[in-house]
Amino acid sequence: MTSTPKYGRFIAFEGGEGTGKSTQSRMLADALRKGGKVVKVTREPGGTPGAEAIRELLLHPPGEGWNARAEALLFAASRSDHVGTLIRPALAEGTWVISDRFVDSSRAYQGGAGGLGDEAIQALHQFGSDGMRPDCTILLEVDEARLSERLAERDGDTSDAIGGRSIDYHREVARSFRKLAEADPHGFRIVDGTGTPQEVHARILDELRPLIEGEAA
Ligand code: TYD
Repeated sequence: MTSTPKYGRFIAFEGGEGTGKSTQSRMLADALRKGGKVVKVTREPGGTPGAEAIRELLLHPPGEGWNARAEALLFAASRSDHVGTLIRPALAEGTWVISDRFVDSSRAYQGGAGGLGDEAIQALHQFGSDGMRPDCTILLEVDEARLSERLAERDGDTSDAIGGRSIDYHREVARSFRKLAEADPHGFRIVDGTGTPQEVHARILDELRPLIEGEAA
């Protein structure tokens, strides 16, 4: 029984808090399903029972919280479980996987804003997940004014241990994402996240057309 193996494609959404990644992940999944693909939507940190348990530790840390290295290790550990038990098996069955955040979040948050540097994060990812990369990473960007608005609006609510960090930290996250995307124009697509969800969705579909149509061919 030798049939040509069929692999799914792996698309990750990246960007700061409130840039619309979850909404766009769902809209993209619906569009791909309409086109006949089997699609799994997942998220990081999380996606599997083990990784969801680590998510809880990361976002609501016990005691004083984690030091920067421990935090990066926990993200890498949760990703290792996510990749090994969900993402790779799904792709091997021909399922398309859409993840709301992946390793570039660790590169931007822990590596960039957190000061650990890209080399350290890449080394952890190499060890934990064999350095797996998405077929395409969509970076959703909203401008700085909106970022400040969103962070200000959120003041006083129950933001988590990472979302609740300073405006300077989040500014650095945004700068780091852009640097990563500019350094790898083949792997990333930078998409303007302003406008209605439908407008942003249309931009994303435009960017992904070659990947989607290449698959249909
Ligand atoms: P989440 O509630 O999913 O945030 P959002 O809705 O903004 O995506 O919480 C995830 C938080 O974890 C978010 O602040 C980003 C942070 N994070 C990292 O710092 N490093 C990582 O590798 C990942 C995946 C997330």
